[in-house]
Amino acid sequence: MTTKYFFLLITILLHSCHSLTGADDFVRPIDGSLVGLHKEEKVSHFKLYWHDTVSGKTPTSVEVIPPTKKVNTTTLFGKVNILDNPLTLGPTLSSKLVARAQGFYAATSETEAELLMSMNFAFVEGKYNGSSITVMGRNPIFSKTRELAVIGGSGFFRFARGYAHLKTYSFDLKTGDAIVEYNVYVIHY
Ligand SMILES: *[C@@H]1O[C@H](CO)[C@@H](O)[C@H](O)[C@H]1NC(C)=O
Ligand SMILES: *[C@@H]1O[C@H](CO)[C@@H](O)[C@H](O)[C@H]1NC(C)=O
Repeated sequence: MTTKYFFLLITILLHSCHSLTGADDFVRPIDGSLVGLHKEEKVSHFKLYWHDTVSGKTPTSVEVIPPTKKVNTTTLFGKVNILDNPLTLGPTLSSKLVARAQGFYAATSETEAELLMSMNFAFVEGKYNGSSITVMGRNPIFSKTRELAVIGGSGFFRFARGYAHLKTYSFDLKTGDAIVEYNVYVIHY
């Protein structure tokens, strides 16, 4: 059998499987109330402090990819940190832990100190324990205020959307450790 006929045969076989199962059997419209959409939407405001500890013996934010040397810039372009940062009620690390910010940030600008942030805020306290919100966006770290998007969530935060305002509480130039105030506004059911 020539290669050409072999591929023709495969194509015909694949097509017949397709029509046997039906191409759209995996999707159907449903009533939104089956997934909680009949409830009234709520807006919640969370005020949390995000601790990016990169120094010392127990960092929670670790560089996993160093800045690239292929681009001559001071913006650390290419650097990637993976983080599992505490989110606390107050600005000190010893204050009550309510969630963990798990994800990464990457330096994605060749001209500015700017990070792409991609994190899940996994709640560990109260009725939101086990639920999470997903935060993503552009963070020009030396701007006075920055904004990230809340693009979704799980548990109590299914269908969530919103935004987070970021304000640097403290930044230690020597160690690189930062504490950032996050005011998160979330619409959810
Ligand atoms: C990198 O840029 C700086 C400032 O523009 C310049 O002085 C330096 O020579 C450049 N280095 C290389 C390796 O191109
Ligand atoms: C949060 O949930 C986890 C897992 O179900 C449980 O082990 C933990 O005790 C809970 N924490 C609080 C503060 O309720």
